[in-house]
Amino acid sequence: GAAVTMIWPFFSSCDSQSSTTAKPELGKDFQPDIDLELKAVQRDLSILSGPKTKVWVYEGKLLKGNKEALQTLEGSYLGPVIKVRKGQKVRIRFQNDLPEESIVHWHGMHVPERYDVHPQDVINSGETYIYEYEVMNRAGTYWFHPHGRTGPQVYNGLAGLLLVTDEEEQQLNLPQWEFDLPVVIQDRTFDENNQLVYLNNGQMDRMTGFLGNRILINGSPEQRLNLKTGCKYRLRLLNGSNSRIYKLAWEDGSPVTVFGIDGSLLSTPKELPYLMLGPAKRVDVWLDLTDKPEGTELTMKNASFPLEIMSGGMMGDGGMMQGAESDLPQGSEYPVFTALANGSGSNDHTLPGQLAQPDYIDPSTAGNLNAPRQFTFAMGHMEWTINGRTWETTEVADEETVKLGSTEVWELINGGGMMDNNDDGGGMMDGHGMMGDGGMMGGEDGMMNNQGMMGNMMQMPHPIHIHQVQFNIIERDVANVDPQLWDAIKDGFVDEGWHDTVLLMPGMSAKVIMQFKDFKGLFVYHCHNLEHEDMGMMRNFKIV
Ligand code: C2O
Ligand code: CU
Repeated sequence: GAAVTMIWPFFSSCDSQSSTTAKPELGKDFQPDIDLELKAVQRDLSILSGPKTKVWVYEGKLLKGNKEALQTLEGSYLGPVIKVRKGQKVRIRFQNDLPEESIVHWHGMHVPERYDVHPQDVINSGETYIYEYEVMNRAGTYWFHPHGRTGPQVYNGLAGLLLVTDEEEQQLNLPQWEFDLPVVIQDRTFDENNQLVYLNNGQMDRMTGFLGNRILINGSPEQRLNLKTGCKYRLRLLNGSNSRIYKLAWEDGSPVTVFGIDGSLLSTPKELPYLMLGPAKRVDVWLDLTDKPEGTELTMKNASFPLEIMSGGMMGDGGMMQGAESDLPQGSEYPVFTALANGSGSNDHTLPGQLAQPDYIDPSTAGNLNAPRQFTFAMGHMEWTINGRTWETTEVADEETVKLGSTEVWELINGGGMMDNNDDGGGMMDGHGMMGDGGMMGGEDGMMNNQGMMGNMMQMPHPIHIHQVQFNIIERDVANVDPQLWDAIKDGFVDEGWHDTVLLMPGMSAKVIMQFKDFKGLFVYHCHNLEHEDMGMMRNFKIV
């Protein structure tokens, strides 16, 4: 399609300001069980055949601890897999050797404010930031990535897994080590010189979120897991994509066996026909190759779902608003990865019928069960907003202030439409600004001269992430979801367990319950479509 130039009022909302607080230093009394160095640095890596690709990587080095604590994914731009146990004390010395500011966020971890980090904690090139915390989380699959200019930095390669185990998990005979496999799913676009292309569709990508042209698994374009017949595997899936949503299904029609989500194991394994995996979500999938002959290939594909992000007239005419341009449109069918039974072996791991003892929050203990705080994620006035507000570095609204020690229900609402549909004279659709008769919106290409777009025009999924906590999902309201879409995805949600991110499809809302404990401070919650986050769909909340 023709290149479209729009002037965004909101180009780079997360531009950081220097932190005013002192950077954490080495704690003299802190006795780490695991001490490691994590360096963010630019490298040239062989990813495709031909020229090397410039990427940004986290390189880990273990200074203290058992050597299993740090597993490097050879040849991948992805960071090391860090393996810790609940109760351990961990020190991470983050060194920023990138040409720009950055900071590491431990996604899903329950840690104090300065280790959770805030976008204003970014450090300059050449600086170091020390994390020292005790692992308080349940066994689960957590991850780490930058915060600040999150979209481009993650896209350039900065991300890694942090796996937590605990007593309860260790008593189960789940697959470990070479049978416990990371499967990080990301999409990327490369140019003719094998360099990563970001926001190739300009501002449109920024609005919809970036979609790449091909899938990489653990940073590899081969999309293949080399496994052994006779063995059972724990596949730790992470959707590490900037904005892509997956509907994962085994191509041969076998059910997908799920036994863990984000920050916990499930109480019992669940068999699903397919699995919806929004950005930032993790899921544990069981794969049993016991009776599979050598050479068996099992492909996990993306199954189709009808996601029309634009309602109204725009979609009809040329489809330019279907989202980021990609050879793999959101919701289309394509292979994600193939598990290959290559060679044979055996292991005696089993998937127990009873996994974690459920310790979910009793909803009746929430002070605001009948009047939850409501947060609406929507497009308004050309900006991605939460309750009509956009990102401000230190601003905290009343409804964003919670009490330490409280249990609360938050209702997270995908408010959809781009327009507020009122006549207050603001907004993009009323003949001012981009909708005037200049630029892309004038003319007769049909894009803006149809009716319909004034209403609920832009329908985007929003994967909502709350820092610092793990929550339970107590209700998902789908009454306003397009029935055709809902019909195609409804069997793919795993709402049991402890989560830190919830995928809200257009029209959907969810009630989540959580406890604010141990740490006061300023934290963020945001859309984990990284382009939305970078465009301002992020806010502070304060625990007081
Ligand atoms: Cu993975 Cu603030 O996010
Ligand atoms: Cu979003």
